[in-house]
Amino acid sequence: MKKKMSEISWDDFQRLPFVEKAPYLLQDDGAPYHTLFAQQFDYAVLERLTVLTNCIRKISKSRAGADFLRSLIADKRAMIYFSQPSSRTFLSFLSACQILGIQTGEVRDTSTSSEFKGESHEDSVRTFSSYFDLIIMRSPEKSLAEKMSHALSVSNRPVPIINAGSGKDQHPTQALLDIYTLLRSFEKKGGLKNRTIVFCGDLLRGRTVRSLSYLLTNYTNITQIFVAPPQLQVGQDVLDILSDHDVTYELTDDLKSVLAQSDAVYMTRIQDEWDASEGESAGIDTSNFKFGAAELALLPADGIIMHPLPRRDEISIEVDNDPRAMFWRQMRNGMWIRSALIAMTFGFEREILTYQG
Ligand code: CP
Repeated sequence: MKKKMSEISWDDFQRLPFVEKAPYLLQDDGAPYHTLFAQQFDYAVLERLTVLTNCIRKISKSRAGADFLRSLIADKRAMIYFSQPSSRTFLSFLSACQILGIQTGEVRDTSTSSEFKGESHEDSVRTFSSYFDLIIMRSPEKSLAEKMSHALSVSNRPVPIINAGSGKDQHPTQALLDIYTLLRSFEKKGGLKNRTIVFCGDLLRGRTVRSLSYLLTNYTNITQIFVAPPQLQVGQDVLDILSDHDVTYELTDDLKSVLAQSDAVYMTRIQDEWDASEGESAGIDTSNFKFGAAELALLPADGIIMHPLPRRDEISIEVDNDPRAMFWRQMRNGMWIRSALIAMTFGFEREILTYQG
């Protein structure tokens, strides 16, 4: 580790700016040990992850390659600890572990674990670390994955933690798969630079937007446009980071007016599970924040439509079969880049890159 988390108190650690927290999460070669927030990834590591992901995809196409991948980390076990609902993130991490031969355990509902009997998060995670070599966790609590990483660092069995979504705050591995999808989409069209990315929907409470917006600051001359009703417009914390990185951004409530200049439109659903009062979101007019045939007609021929999913009605199903609809491929990309992330976490990057099929 570049810096040891065990040598700083939790209070001091949590007060650090992201840039000063990052060295506590990385291995000596810059690969992630813990994956906790998007700001820990720089361009170099994103490139390494992209190359590794492409390599894993290619190797897995043959039976011999799939067998090789499955043998790689077969001595490790991973705990998938989700105290919030999930389909994609849970299943893609499970699939990623299966691709790499990692055995898994799971808690998907804390009413079935001893947390129901009052056990603390710290004791739960310490229990998992007694049986498993990696903890992949989703929680409604902001910074819980960070806090648990710190708690384990001072235990006798520290293991890496991957944040699979924390509160309204961060979803770093979603941002990784989103970046990978953007890179692949523009690979033969000049790459991911000088692009305009439009975020639309509930940008205030969307953790995927927050994490992706941060990650995009690693790429040259990306303009970010945030389209939302005023009540759900993106938070000032995101805008401050964009300003710090000299990123051009724009806020609007008019989706149609920005589509012609869009390279990618990242749609999101209304996150009403975070409503402070019953029916809060239902009182907001979201009718202009949906993508259908009329919006498709305005999107450039090589523009793409993304969505972290799940969707409700913010993308109409008539869009699904348009070649610019990238959200189903985006979802599958999650399995591949999560495989690469886990392989890198356990130090298997070189073995995979040098595999001779
Ligand atoms: N994108 C995403 O996090 O989906 P799930 O909630 O289904 O995991």
